[in-house]
This record gives sequence, structure tokens and C-alpha cells, in this order.
Amino acid sequence: MSVKSAALAALASAYKLNGLEAAPSIVRSTKPEFGDLQCNDMMPLAKATGKNTRALAASVAGPGFVNFRLSNETIAAEATAMLGDPTLGVEKESPVRTVIDFGGPNVAKALHVGHLRSFVIGESLRRILAEIGHDVISDIHLGDWGLQMGKLLYGAAIASGWQHGDPVPFIKDFSFDETSVEELGILYKSGNVASEDDTALAVARSLTNMLQDGHPILTTAWKRMREISLEAVSATAGQLGAHFDLFFGESDAHSEVAPMLDDLVSRGLARESDGALIIDVSGEGLPDNVPPLLLRKSDGAALYGTTDLATLRRRVRDIGAQRIIYCTDDRQALHIGSVFSAARSAGYAHGIELRHVTFGTVRGWNGKPFKTRDGSAASLGDMIELALAKAAEKVTDKHAATVVGLGALKFADLSTPRKTGYVFDIDKMTSFEGRTGPYLQYAYARICSILNKAASAGIVPGVTVSVSHPSERAVLVECLWYPHSLSEAARLLEPFEIAERAYQVADTFSRFYTDCAVLNGEDPPGRLATCKLVAQVIGRCLELLGMETVRRM
Ligand code: ARG
Repeated sequence: MSVKSAALAALASAYKLNGLEAAPSIVRSTKPEFGDLQCNDMMPLAKATGKNTRALAASVAGPGFVNFRLSNETIAAEATAMLGDPTLGVEKESPVRTVIDFGGPNVAKALHVGHLRSFVIGESLRRILAEIGHDVISDIHLGDWGLQMGKLLYGAAIASGWQHGDPVPFIKDFSFDETSVEELGILYKSGNVASEDDTALAVARSLTNMLQDGHPILTTAWKRMREISLEAVSATAGQLGAHFDLFFGESDAHSEVAPMLDDLVSRGLARESDGALIIDVSGEGLPDNVPPLLLRKSDGAALYGTTDLATLRRRVRDIGAQRIIYCTDDRQALHIGSVFSAARSAGYAHGIELRHVTFGTVRGWNGKPFKTRDGSAASLGDMIELALAKAAEKVTDKHAATVVGLGALKFADLSTPRKTGYVFDIDKMTSFEGRTGPYLQYAYARICSILNKAASAGIVPGVTVSVSHPSERAVLVECLWYPHSLSEAARLLEPFEIAERAYQVADTFSRFYTDCAVLNGEDPPGRLATCKLVAQVIGRCLELLGMETVRRM
């Protein structure tokens, strides 16, 4: 049991004894002089019961606060238990089958800064939820089915010399064998620009429809393009350490679409409007005047919302999802909220928890969305290269430099609450000082080297932890808070909780290491036990953030 749970249990029985109905709550103390934990329930309880706050509070530091100070014996006992527990005291939750949808790249479109956030946040959540006991399945939900595909095919037709008439033979002649993902991007752009013209747009639309209807030549071309894109995306995901159990795309829901629409029409849920098929949506944080979700265009094409709804239905039915988490930037709130609402009214999400994990924008110095010098959205590949190059200037070992560069990028993304967004500052994020990935990775490596040095001197860390100095007490209390941070991270779907835990532990550790002799002190095994616990907590936190560590730098 975490210290927080123990304090909560003590409070709960005190409330019961005093005839109070409320469930207690506890937070970390805002100031060290108030102790370690505090309960702010007295004020609301006094209001509810008409009793005096002072009478309610057992120990009063300000009006209505109950403060807890952990005894050094408790801290030592809890820290010892944590050191001997491979999960580090995690309070497991009963497993919920969870599908997490993140990444969401589109065929033929270059990965950009927005994908960094989805990959990094999504992967961290995947790890956090698994760590606390859930059964997690990740799915990349490749954008491979809408009008974009028609535009891409259109681009391929132009590139192989088509000017007018039937574009299909030209697409058939286009050889994708030597085509790189960058070249696909160029094809898409040319198709997209051309479609600004109405006649061209009509062709792109009809190519989309023919593809969705299974036209063999278009299907073959599309498959090749999808493969090329997926190969590039997998490489980047792999580099970032993002793991996907499923590489499904929008297209994989295609066989589901027609029966789903029949179902919705036959039950009177979807209706025709100007030749299109729509479903009304409401609630789920949607504005009052929210437009209906478009399910089928008048030309018969399925849309982004259609494949999303069909995918959701499949995830529940075929994967047995009990919870589905979508990780996209906050500009998709209306879309995802509409899909959730449609799924609810159709009965596709009965008893299913649907969560939209949104995140804010990565900004440049001017406060605007981060762009490259030429004004285009920064490519994810370039951002990774930049971080790796910066790290290589500071870290000589090649492997360590890669670990540090990627860690810097990830930690910068996860060390502010996800909705806030942040400024992309390559110098700050790769610095070894402050709230950065390199600082934490270095702290971890430093403790490993202390443990190594001890090992070569034949000193083994003790199995019991003790509290021998206020600075040691401080770092241990930060460690003890880890299980609670994990629970909060899982509850709020917020990796920031883990990033902050890692930082607090590392920061108090450096104070401890300055104040207390480890190897030359009175009790090397005892202090080494503290070092070992700290390394375990920091190491586990970094792992949950999707960051790698090195034992030497
Ligand atoms: N491909 C989409 C885009 O680039 C993101 C997909 C997010 N996931 C989802 N199920 N809609 O905007």
C-alpha cells in the first residue's frame, strides 16, 4: 500500500468513527513545514455538517487542514518494501482491455511536429496503463482511405504523363518500385494543388470512389503506396520507441461500412440530407450548434468519420475493447466528440469508456505553431536529426548520444501537462541542467556509477533502507510518492505526472548526494540502498516515458 493509501485508510476510519459520510482526500503538503501530506476536507465537511472546522481537524495548522508527518520508521519501512518489490509498490488496477489509437499518420504525407506529440504521449500512456495492470492494444490508425488517396492517385497519373481522358491506364503504368516516401509526398502535393480546380477535384473524387469500390488497378497502386508509407512510418516509430500491436488503417474498416450504414438507416438513426447520409450528434462536450456527422457523401464516398465509427465498432466487437483512447491534437475535439456521440446513440459503445486525449501545439519562438525556416510545418525527421546532432556535440559515446538526443525530445514533450503545449527550444531541451531528459538520464547514470564503484570495492547495497539525514528523508519521501504518481498518470492519462516524479526524485537526490557521504560514510550499505532505490524509481519513470537509459555516460 502506498503512503497515500495508508493515510487515506486512516482518515476513512476516523471519518467513520465521527459519523462523517464523505470519502477522504489527501494531497502532498504545499510547504514542508506543514508535514508530508495534507487533507483539505475540513472546510467542505464543516459546511456540510454545520460543525466547526477546528473541532473537526485533529491537528490544525491553518483553519481546517489536517497535516500528516510520516515518521522516519514509516519512511524506512515503506522504502525497504519498495526496494524489494519489482513493481516498486504499484497499486494494480483490475485489467481493462484498452485500445489506444495514436500516431495516426497519413499515407504519402510527411510526418511532422504534431505526430511527434501523438507518438510520444501515446507510447507513454501505453506503457503507463500496462504497468498499472491493464491489457493494452495499440493501433496506429493509418490515414489511408479518404479523398487524400484519390488526390494521390491523381498525382501519380499526372506524373506518368496523363493530361485528359481516363487516368487509370497512366496510374497502371506508374512504377512505384523505386519510389521513396518523399516522392509520394510530392505526388500527393501535386494532386492536392491540382484539385483546387473543380474538374480535377471531380476526377480525384471519382478515383477515391473507384478505389473504395475495389477497382483492381487502383487497388494495386494504392497498396504499393501504402506499403512505402508504412515502411517509412514504422522506421520512425521504431526510432522513437513507439510500439504498435496493430498497423490497421482507415481502409481496414471498409468491409464494415456498408453493413453499418444499413444498420443505422434501418434503425432510423442515420438519415438522408441533400443526398448525403448523416447522423445527429450532441453532448460529449460538443457545442449546441454542432453539425451532424457526415457518413456518406452524395457521391457515395465514405468519410473520415465513417471509417472512425466503423473502426470503433470493430474494436469493441472483434478486439473486445472495454475502453478506447484516442490521442490526437486538440483541433480534432469536434471530430472525435462527434464520433463518440454517434457511437453512443447507435449503441456501439454500450458500457465502453471512450476517452479523447488531446494535446496542445508545439510552438516556435514567435508563439506560433513551430515551423521550419521556409515556413512549412517542421518535419519530424528533421526534429529528430536536430536533437541527435545537439546530443552528439555533448556526449561522445555514439549510443549514449542517441539515447540522450531522443530522450531530450521526449522529455521536453512530456514534462509539461499535455494540454499546455510548449516552445520547441533545442538548446534548452538538450541541456544537462534543469527539467530536461539529459539531466535525468545523467542522474541515472551517475547513480549507476556509484553502485558500480561500490561493487568493485566489494560493498553491496543493504536490503533495508534507513533514514539517517534530513536530505535522505527528503529523497525517500519523493520515491514513496511514485505509486501515487503512476495512479494519477493512469487516471488523468497524463504522462506529465511521471515526468515530474522523476524530476523531483532526481532533484532531491542531488541534495542528498551533496549532503551525505555514501561510500566514505558510516553506513555505506544503508546509503547505497537509498541510491539503488532512487535509481530504480528514476529508471522506471524514464521507461514509462518511453526513454532509454545508459549506465555510463
Ligand atoms: N490521420 C488523422 C490525421 O492526420 C489522425 C488519426 C487520429 N485517429 C483517429 N482515430 N481519428 O488527422
